[in-house]
Amino acid sequence: MSPSPDTAASVPFATLVIVAVSCALSLTRAAPADLVDARVEALLSKMTLAEKLGQLQQLDGSADGNFKPEHPDLIRKGLMGSTLNVRGAARTNALQRIAMEQPRVAVPLLFAYDVIHGYRTIFPIPLGLAATWDPAVIERAATVSAKESRAAGIRWTFAPMVDIARDPRWGRIAEGAGEDPYLGAAMAAAWVRGFQGDSYAAPERLLACAKHWVAYGAAEGGRDYNTADVSERTLREVYFPPFKAAVDAGVATLMSAFNDLNGIPATANPFTLTDVLRGEWHFGGFVVSDYNAVRELMVHRAAASEAEAAREALTAGVDMEMVSRTFAGEVPKLIEQGRLSVADVDRAVTRVLGTKIMSGLFENPYAPEGAEATVLLSPDHRAAARESAGRSFVLLKNAGHVLPLATTGGPVAVIGPLADDQNALLGSWPGDGRAGDTVSLLAGLRAKLGSGRAVLFAKGCATIACSSTDGFDQAAAIARQTDTVVLAVGESADMSGEAASRSSLDLPGRQLDLVRRIQEAGKPTVVVLMNGRPLTIGWIAEQVPAILETWFAGTEGGSAIAAALVGDVNPGGKLPVTFVRTVGQVPFYYNHKHTGRPPNTTKYTSKYLDVESTPLFPFGFGLSYTSFRLSGLQLSAATIPSDGSIRVEADIENTGARPGDEVVQLYLRRAAASVTPRVETLTAFRRVTLTPGAKQRLSFQLGTAELGMLDRRLRFVVEPGDFQVMVGTSSVEGLTTEFKVTAR
Ligand code: BGC
Repeated sequence: MSPSPDTAASVPFATLVIVAVSCALSLTRAAPADLVDARVEALLSKMTLAEKLGQLQQLDGSADGNFKPEHPDLIRKGLMGSTLNVRGAARTNALQRIAMEQPRVAVPLLFAYDVIHGYRTIFPIPLGLAATWDPAVIERAATVSAKESRAAGIRWTFAPMVDIARDPRWGRIAEGAGEDPYLGAAMAAAWVRGFQGDSYAAPERLLACAKHWVAYGAAEGGRDYNTADVSERTLREVYFPPFKAAVDAGVATLMSAFNDLNGIPATANPFTLTDVLRGEWHFGGFVVSDYNAVRELMVHRAAASEAEAAREALTAGVDMEMVSRTFAGEVPKLIEQGRLSVADVDRAVTRVLGTKIMSGLFENPYAPEGAEATVLLSPDHRAAARESAGRSFVLLKNAGHVLPLATTGGPVAVIGPLADDQNALLGSWPGDGRAGDTVSLLAGLRAKLGSGRAVLFAKGCATIACSSTDGFDQAAAIARQTDTVVLAVGESADMSGEAASRSSLDLPGRQLDLVRRIQEAGKPTVVVLMNGRPLTIGWIAEQVPAILETWFAGTEGGSAIAAALVGDVNPGGKLPVTFVRTVGQVPFYYNHKHTGRPPNTTKYTSKYLDVESTPLFPFGFGLSYTSFRLSGLQLSAATIPSDGSIRVEADIENTGARPGDEVVQLYLRRAAASVTPRVETLTAFRRVTLTPGAKQRLSFQLGTAELGMLDRRLRFVVEPGDFQVMVGTSSVEGLTTEFKVTAR
């Protein structure tokens, strides 16, 4: 599938690349393309080889945001072009001044940071934001994050993370949009629009970076950094679409992944980095490696030396090297030996300089000092974080209408190791967020209930790891004294995210025992889940009357959860990922293939003997405090030609007593095709808000893009055949009807 590494060496010369860069970058409407070309050429002509390689070098600052002692000198010599983690207007400006005051070639530094779901005001984790099924929420979160980042001197975020994840053991599932390529693509585009706006050169915007290119989420066994072996079909059908959406939305950069992909590391993979990205998608920005990933080609045993690693990465299509220094150290020798050409270097430098020019960095290299005080954590930003959190919650169960809680009456017990934990709410990429700024569930509920209801609190377990039952008696005693119990359980922030794979999806330690113990008190109980991945919560789903999934809800998490618990906010989120019954079912995703023996009660069918074949909670599932009814499903035609399009319409009505949101989801099912179809494919969705009694007719247009598929030769075609369309409220519930596509 992948051409030999040498293939890439013959692709574009600098001038050709300049044209490609400026064409793609002109999407940002920041500067005319030929002007960019001319400026890049002028700079290149003045730069020594060492200075060019300096533009390809990104180095890390310290965790506290400071730069390293060696940085000023490296900048003076033109040997580094970008930093990560250096932040704060004063610090970035201090470094930038050195770069800008170089008399011969002054190229501004590009300051990068992982602004994944917030800079200082922290939004819900991306998996939670995906559960909103509302791209506008993501766009706003990214817009706010960009504004805060710019105030702190950051110009480039390593986000969005658009890796499809179908194995919840993989901790980084928290950072993306879940299991589905269509939802993932919609979210990827929204992130890019939010970070970059119409032009990433605008004063409050950032360069975005779609990562990790590619199939990083397909790590074998869900173990982070592990090998991925994925067919080209699955790459194109499942793992590529969110990246393609990011590229189409004008994303400035991509990051190459750590993993080995089908035998060729993603950071040295000419097929993905050059053939697909440049050749097919015409991506004109630049690619940064992941942290130390170029040097790690040696650890993969894919390169025998740093020189080999540098040559492989650069020729495959990595432009900037994060942290390791193989380009700077080895490329001059490789050129001398004739194993690399100056054109290979110029190609990468052209992309980096083109992006820097387009980003307005030369004209506006500095951050406005003083802005941080007013911009970071402003009341508006907190409000945005609170509203997005409110839209991210998924009501998994509400038997006997335990929820919403009354705001007056007898005491409420708030129990659990996560109930007053400010840190967990920040998730695994907290940016510059501070636990002290965060509203815990306990604080949020106390503020919400005021004097209406007393709130009694017991942690139950001393820590989230919950290794002892010591606090159980006290917690159970408190539960008995109250009328309602809110029980906050789940994971700590560092149990998901990078290098945080788990072999079990159960609640950590003795947490489930705590839930059992509290349940014995016999009070109406609500489990509030805080977690970075789907958990196996079968017992809770069976025994506890109400469950609210809140992910890690960010700085305003506690206020938002409190608002949802009392019904000021009606939960309307839907699962962006399947919740399995047991970890042994993994990988389990809704759009799987049929197999020749779909599971049923007879023996020789595709199933496990010891667990049902269904998920605990399916993809797209989520309840509400009100009820909805779908009706009036209608198609504009019963038969269409293969180059035609069809309109699908249905009514959604709020049949309950409260205003609320429903996410109407359209799934396509193919009767048969030249390539085994998936059981169904999410093809459109819309989140609507309806007052009680209100009814809205929704219309979805399906054309070639929606009806097409990759045929046996991986060509995108619309194959004639019979289709079923389901318009539903989850991947397993809805109205269906059929239509036929005929050959032209
Ligand atoms: C992660 C990236 C991140 C980078 C810089 C790496 O370890 O995989 O997602 O952007 O570090 O912090």
